[in-house]
Amino acid sequence: MANRANLSRRAAQLHSETLVSALMARALGQPNLVSLAVGFVDRQTLPVEATRRALERIWADADLARAALQYGTTPGHRPLCEVLLDRMLSADRRAAAEMNVSVDDLVLMPGSNQLLFLLGDILLDPGDIVICAAPTYYVYLGALRNLGARAIGIESDAQGMIPEAIEGQLARLRAAGELDRVKAIYLTSYFDNPRAVTIPADRRARLVEIAKRWSQAHPLYLIEDAAYRELRYGGEDLPSLRSFDAEGDTVIYAGTFSKSYSPGIRVGWAVLPAALRGPVLAEKGNVDFGSPHFNQVLMAEVVRSGLFDRHVRELRDQYGAKTDAILAAAEEYLRPLGVDWVRPGGGLYLWVTLPEGLDAGLDGPLFDRAVSEGVLYVPGQYCYPPEGRPAARNTLRLSFGVASPERLRQGVAALGRAVRQAG
Ligand SMILES: Cc1ncc(COP(=O)(O)O)c(C=O)c1O
Repeated sequence: MANRANLSRRAAQLHSETLVSALMARALGQPNLVSLAVGFVDRQTLPVEATRRALERIWADADLARAALQYGTTPGHRPLCEVLLDRMLSADRRAAAEMNVSVDDLVLMPGSNQLLFLLGDILLDPGDIVICAAPTYYVYLGALRNLGARAIGIESDAQGMIPEAIEGQLARLRAAGELDRVKAIYLTSYFDNPRAVTIPADRRARLVEIAKRWSQAHPLYLIEDAAYRELRYGGEDLPSLRSFDAEGDTVIYAGTFSKSYSPGIRVGWAVLPAALRGPVLAEKGNVDFGSPHFNQVLMAEVVRSGLFDRHVRELRDQYGAKTDAILAAAEEYLRPLGVDWVRPGGGLYLWVTLPEGLDAGLDGPLFDRAVSEGVLYVPGQYCYPPEGRPAARNTLRLSFGVASPERLRQGVAALGRAVRQAG
């Protein structure tokens, strides 16, 4: 591509079209399409009333309101950091000393995506390596590509990334003299995007142990993206990977209110190893010297007043019902066609495996048929890192966050018709 705008080398690698806009462009003009592509939350569940009440409480205190309307600090609103740390410790059933963590390790972000971006800036030179699940969160793959970093995909089973596969990959990289280029392992620890799998406690402990053991020459960080932790529709919460990091020097924890409360408010947070706090704050100082303060004060009030917990309880019921709806539709319309899926215990996604050989990609036989039948999905191949485990082209991701149970049913039925035609 000619660099007509005289862009930096880094910017010249940017793809002007995001995956979602490419999908939407293909679906343009298709009436009554059920979009199961984007991972948005349900508009109907957004907490209008709870947010109004929290805002009223802020406006009732003129001093607090003025402070909220002023710039904040680079690390962010301390009362929110304190509340977040308390909640993490109680969810993880650990004392701060057991995790070597303090409120100073927290930094607030405008969504966890900024943390992923800042970590890229401070950890990754071109050619450096991040080990990811295959498949993984595709937005992060875009960020790594833009940095000129290498993403290597590791096989993932019903319990997430396979520890032996990570160690096998690390051993191969060591044999090739590339171990010093491996900077991090990235994973989504709860109901991941795109497969909705959750790593069980014993595997969490093993993954942290592996990262520590391979950190001899230089740190191999484990980036724990916990974006979907609160969206659990049954069973017990599990301790974070961070809770298995007693020294607090290995796991970088990324949390967010985007899925559990409101992506429009967009507040996320990092729990950082001490060695990364200075560099992250310095780079954040360059980017925005502090995320929107008002949103942080608002979220502190939402959490402190109990409105957040109430909202999460409601969300669990609503998304739980949607999970049941999409699973029932999949059983009815897809199972007879030899289609399989991972049963989600939470999160927003259904990861679907089509019969062998059926390509779900934009240029394969299924995509346009699915759109004409009335459903939009994300082809699974976009979620695979460019190296490592090869992309399974017969996979796709359905998001059940946005559509109603009835529309989910229509969407899955449409997919079933398309699979029948394409197969
Ligand atoms: C796995 C994962 N991580 C991070 C994010 C980013 O969330 P935010 O930046 O809104 O906190 C998303 C959004 O879809 C996600 O799916």
